[in-house]
Amino acid sequence: MGEKAKILIVDDELGPREALRMILKDRYEVRVAGDGTSALSLLSREKFDVAILDIKMPDRDGIEVLRLAKEIDRDLEVVMITAYATVSTAREAIRHGALDYLIKPFDKTDVERVVERGIARRLDRETGRQRIRELERTTDRLARQVEKAKMDIQHHYDGTVKALIAAIDAVDHYTRGHSERVSNFTVRLAEAVSFPRHQIVLLQQAAIVHDIGKIGVEGRILRKRGTLTQEELQEVRKHPQIGVEIVGPVPFMAEMLPVILHHHERYDGKGFPEGLKGEEIVLGARLVSIADAVDAMLSDRPYRRALTLEEVKAELERESGGQFDPQLVSALLSSEFFQHVSDQIG
Ligand SMILES: [Fe+2]
Repeated sequence: MGEKAKILIVDDELGPREALRMILKDRYEVRVAGDGTSALSLLSREKFDVAILDIKMPDRDGIEVLRLAKEIDRDLEVVMITAYATVSTAREAIRHGALDYLIKPFDKTDVERVVERGIARRLDRETGRQRIRELERTTDRLARQVEKAKMDIQHHYDGTVKALIAAIDAVDHYTRGHSERVSNFTVRLAEAVSFPRHQIVLLQQAAIVHDIGKIGVEGRILRKRGTLTQEELQEVRKHPQIGVEIVGPVPFMAEMLPVILHHHERYDGKGFPEGLKGEEIVLGARLVSIADAVDAMLSDRPYRRALTLEEVKAELERESGGQFDPQLVSALLSSEFFQHVSDQIG
């Protein structure tokens, strides 16, 4: 909108046209048209704030001009002129989007007031639209920033997790690859028991770092080939708590803490660190516990060879309700989990 608001006066009679022009010319930029057709052509070439339209013109009906003018510029405010103020014509004009109507002969104050109102309303609408456009642009920009931030976080996250896994592998040579296998098994298991899909990714990540606390256990103990002394066993059993201390300060890992802390709890309550029982242990930790055991059984250890799949199944059955959640064991045994494992280990 320019400095002065622009008004278009459309009337086939010179008298009223001039009367309106005289009232408005000092405050506004005023243009005039003598018929509907030239009014519409002016409107399609130039931007006006308010149009004052005679309801009765020889070439076109004022209501039709109003409708077409609104098609050209939906924000244009239109005031109708009528010589005989019938409620029905006024109503019809307003129903078609006119702001108001003026009765001939004009009252100066009425004219000024209605034009001011039209300009104010147009400005409001324009400002409103502009705000919406600005908001849309801001929203788009924010959405792009959030997307980028998410990618950055994922990138940092992946880097952090890789560093943590490398740290575990460094202290615990012979379990190299264990974290990733446990994570894969956990996902298979979670699918076999219809664990909520959206939580599987989180569980997968929790499983990968479940043994992170081993970083805090003396490597000498972790690598020891013989049986551990009572004291050494106590040390090793601290790893879930150490894991929570390591991962605890990382905000995006907060949800993983219960899985890390409780992956050595037993269903019968004889596990550690808290001796939780049955469903007191979060489901994620019960799943990781089985995946962890399955991978341990399928791996060679200095003191024993790897178990066969049949032996692993038998062990799971034997420990069903003891070390492991019996419902998870039976769901697992009746699922295709072992077929996948068998394919994986060849
Ligand atoms: Fe562990």
